[in-house]
Amino acid sequence: MQVHVFGGADEAARAVAMVIASEILKKPDAVLGLATGSTPVPVYRALIEMGRQGLIDFSRVRTFNLDEYVGLSPDHPQSYRRFMNEQLFDHININKANTRVPSGVAADLRAEAAAYDRAIEAAGGIDLQLLGIGVNGHIGFNEPASAFPHATHVVDIAPSTVQANARFFDNADEVPRRAVTLGIGGIMAARRVVLLAVGRGKAPVIQKTVAGDATPDVPASILRFHPNAQLFLDREAAGLL
Ligand code: PGA
Repeated sequence: MQVHVFGGADEAARAVAMVIASEILKKPDAVLGLATGSTPVPVYRALIEMGRQGLIDFSRVRTFNLDEYVGLSPDHPQSYRRFMNEQLFDHININKANTRVPSGVAADLRAEAAAYDRAIEAAGGIDLQLLGIGVNGHIGFNEPASAFPHATHVVDIAPSTVQANARFFDNADEVPRRAVTLGIGGIMAARRVVLLAVGRGKAPVIQKTVAGDATPDVPASILRFHPNAQLFLDREAAGLL
């Protein structure tokens, strides 16, 4: 796992956007694994700007998002589908039919999860997976656990994650308690993984991810065994390394 440290959060995000842009330049129909949360927003902003300037063409790009809340319809203000539309897809020349987010309202969530993995496989696998990291080490909604879950699955969201995400809702009670998420196996199968973390709040978990035990208790720590995983950090997130 390579670690790249930048002076500021904006520089780290711009560097990640450049990595994504170069992937698309190399492979115009690249399959991108995308993430939600606050951290990737500046990455998406930079990609939108590159699109406006005509530097990247998204028309053949395909995307699969990591996760979705169970129970939120695609048009719910806090759904990850809506987030992706508003933060990225509505502003670039991507074909929305080529953008996938797991459904959190499918009648059969297990079948939906299995179909999601099949769709990724049919697309040829994920070329580049973008990740954030939770303060508890989660990637996607793979929360600390006793094993590394392989396939896309339904999870109970950890209480600490509910608290962390409450800022996006009117109150913590409104945060869904379950989600559909790509498994650790799905993330590890991506040909390249880029994790972005900024701010001193992430420093302890980055320290555990890089230098602690590789354990399902810190799900991101598995990335040490990925042959092509990079951490992009600002100085604060790297503060305890
Ligand atoms: P954040 O979330 O980017 O909003 O900090 C990251 C995550 O929970 O994966």
